[in-house]
Amino acid sequence: VIAIACALKPKLLIADEPTTALDVVLQAQILDLLRDLVRENRMGLLLISHDLAVVTEMADRLTILRRGEVTEAGETARTLSEQQHPYTRELALASMHVPARPKPHLAGSAKPLLDVEGVGRVYPGRRISLLRPTEPIRAVDDVSLTIEPAQSVALVGRSGCGKSTLARMILALDKPTEGTIRFRGEAITGKPEQALRPARRDMQVVFQDPYGSFDPRQKVEKLVTEPLHLLEKQPAKAERREMVANALHEVGLGPRDMDKYPHEFSGGQRQRLSIARAIITRPKLVVAD
Ligand SMILES: Nc1ncnc2c1ncn2[C@@H]1O[C@H](COP(=O)(O)OP(=O)(O)O)[C@@H](O)[C@H]1O
Ligand SMILES: [Mg+2]
Repeated sequence: VIAIACALKPKLLIADEPTTALDVVLQAQILDLLRDLVRENRMGLLLISHDLAVVTEMADRLTILRRGEVTEAGETARTLSEQQHPYTRELALASMHVPARPKPHLAGSAKPLLDVEGVGRVYPGRRISLLRPTEPIRAVDDVSLTIEPAQSVALVGRSGCGKSTLARMILALDKPTEGTIRFRGEAITGKPEQALRPARRDMQVVFQDPYGSFDPRQKVEKLVTEPLHLLEKQPAKAERREMVANALHEVGLGPRDMDKYPHEFSGGQRQRLSIARAIITRPKLVVAD
């Protein structure tokens, strides 16, 4: 998308959160490219972002919006250093916020909740020419890791290194071509769908792209309660609405949002809906991609 937008050498480029979904290495490259276009082609750039670090690097001037209204506007460095408006100050503080970390949970004591052992995934390659054989794509190669109850584990790497593929296999949405994945001691690799139900109930996912994961014709209440069909005992209507309201509250949305459609939310709010959906069953494992 960025390549298409830049190929025509536009005089004005409007970039709405262009690098939000990218890894840091790619983000730096794309921002360099945009900066070069501004300098060399004397292009105007309207950069829409929530990321003050990016804004500080990129913008000559900035305009801060809150609930559709301008709270402050001016030269970037001065506005961000003087922080005249309280909201600017709030933004600056929040962007430096590092979540408070509880006592680290050291591995080794408890039985693992998740045990990934020597897992690999090879995709058959696409045939480019009739004469040449296809080259298989090795997306994941011999990965082992464990997660214990009450433990958070990060999977880090640049775009295309196999993170999402591994996540899909952990969630039993894709099958490994090598290795075993155990959830609470039971292998989930190669199990039939019916036998996976208990694991599906206790594992939830927040996907990278919340657009793709919501049916646009369903209201939020329906979308957020989707994992509840996996529960053994189905909650009654009133209880369901209460569960949705609680989950929405936990991600900073209100009970009235229950009766809206996904397109009525911003990208960030949709991401929060997807988190609300992931936590509504109080799962034992959340995969956040
Ligand atoms: N269904 C598929 N068919 C063929 N190749 C795939 C498929 N899914 C992913 N890949 C390839 O596997 C590699 C890892 O992809 P992915 O796990 O999505 O990376 P990440 O999430 O780390 O950015 C990429 O090279 C990608 O092109
Ligand atoms: Mg990915």
